[in-house]
Amino acid sequence: MAQIGLFYGTDTGNTERTAKRIKELLEGKLGAGSVEMHEIYKKKSDDMAKYNLLVLGMPTWYDGELQGDWEEFIKEMEQIDFSGKKVAFFGLGDQYGYASYFCDALQVFGEIVEKNKGTLVGFWSVEGYEHDFSKAQRGDKFIGLALDVDNQDDLTEPRIQKWVEQIYGEFGL
Ligand SMILES: Cc1cc2nc3c(=O)[nH]c(=O)nc-3n(C[C@H](O)[C@H](O)[C@H](O)COP(=O)(O)O)c2cc1C
Repeated sequence: MAQIGLFYGTDTGNTERTAKRIKELLEGKLGAGSVEMHEIYKKKSDDMAKYNLLVLGMPTWYDGELQGDWEEFIKEMEQIDFSGKKVAFFGLGDQYGYASYFCDALQVFGEIVEKNKGTLVGFWSVEGYEHDFSKAQRGDKFIGLALDVDNQDDLTEPRIQKWVEQIYGEFGL
């Protein structure tokens, strides 16, 4: 079986594009077929629970709201025992247009993972961002990779590359 399960939800395609790039970079290190990518739409808890290493990607919409397919997955996610699992989040957002809600969605799912005994990896410095507030921020870190393709798309690729190196290490691969 693949080593890593990568799940994403998207409304306008940005998170999907990012997910594909993350898969490509991880597979560059681990080999083709090492990452299985799934759109979260209509997935069940078992689809996610079979992986010990997870990458979960989501945008934030409408003043801190969840992307619709992820919102529907909450009840599935709450049933997963994350003990022994490592989970890396990446989030898409707009730090200027929604400066008080930047990438908020990550926190909702990060909390579920922690409550159900999983380990979060892939925390990312807030340096270089100009948001006012984010629920996904703890101290000077986001709980996952925050990306803003609306305003800082030139930084997206270097951020992804650095983060993939980071989670590769934190996953213990
Ligand atoms: C109407 C609208 C509401 C949005 N609300 C938020 C928000 O509350 N927080 C945030 O960080 N980004 C917000 N965004 C930005 C999106 O998350 C961003 O464009 C993201 O890249 C979309 O990802 P997707 O294409 O995968 O759906 C919003 C964008 C729009 C157009």
